[in-house]
Amino acid sequence: MVSVTLADSVAVPLLSAVADVGGEVFTRPPWREPYAQARTVAARLLADSARPGFVLAVARQGHEVVGFAYGYRCSALAATAARPCGADFTLKELGVLPDFRGLSIGVALHDQVLAASGGGPWWLITHVNATAALGLYHRRGWQAVSRHPTDTTRIIMRKAVPSPPPWPLLTSSCRNLREPLAAGNRLLCRAEPSGTVARTL
Ligand SMILES: CC(C)(COP(=O)(O)OP(=O)(O)OC[C@H]1O[C@@H](n2cnc3c(N)ncnc32)[C@H](O)[C@@H]1OP(=O)(O)O)[C@@H](O)C(=O)NCCC(=O)NCCS
Repeated sequence: MVSVTLADSVAVPLLSAVADVGGEVFTRPPWREPYAQARTVAARLLADSARPGFVLAVARQGHEVVGFAYGYRCSALAATAARPCGADFTLKELGVLPDFRGLSIGVALHDQVLAASGGGPWWLITHVNATAALGLYHRRGWQAVSRHPTDTTRIIMRKAVPSPPPWPLLTSSCRNLREPLAAGNRLLCRAEPSGTVARTL
C-alpha cells in the first residue's frame, strides 16, 4: 500500500530517494533531461526547503519513495505572467515513478501540498507536452495563463482561490439563533470552515 504524507524535515536519505525518483521521472519524455541533471531535483529541493512556506509531500510504499511534490510561497510566476503579485504559492515539482502511475498518487501529492500551502492563488510551470500532468492539473481546476516568454515549451498555470458559495436562502426561523428573528426578517446561512455564518435580510 502506498501512503502519502507531509515531510517535516528534509534528511539525507530522503534527498537521495528524491534524486532516484527524479532520475527515473525527468529523463523520460517530454522532459528528456540527462540522468545527472534529472537527479539535481533533490539539490533544488534542499535549497528551496529554506524558502518561506515550504511544503513537501512524499509517497512511500514501505520504505521506498515512489513520488514527491513540493512548493513554497513565491510570486515569481505571477510576475512572469504579468499578473498582480500577492499571497502566491508555487507548486514547484511533482513526480511519480512510472510503475506507480494511474493509482491516484500524483493527485494525492498535489492535494496534500496545496492543502498545507496556507492558501492561494497557486502557480506552476510545466511542459506543454506533459500530457499526464496537464490532465491532472486541469482536473484539479488549474488554468493555463500564458506561455513562458522565453521558453515556448513551457506553460504557466494558475489555480484561483475558490469563491465562497452563494448565500442560500434558508429559513425564516432558526433554532440556534441567540435572539428571535424580528417579524418579517429572513435568514441567510452558509457553511464555512470556521462554522456556519448567518446574516439576516
Ligand atoms: C503527472 C504525474 C505526477 C501523475 O501521477 P499519477 O499518480 O499517475 O496521477 P494520478 O493517478 O493521481 O492521476 C490523477 C489525474 O491525472 C490525470 N492523468 C493522469 N495520467 C494521465 C495521462 N496519462 N493522460 C491524461 N491525464 C492523466 C487524470 O485526470 C487523473 O485522474 P483520473 O484518473 O481520475 O482521470 C505523473 O504522470 C508524472 O510523474 N509525470 C512526469 C513528471 C511530470 O510531468 N510532473 C509534472 C511537473 S510540472
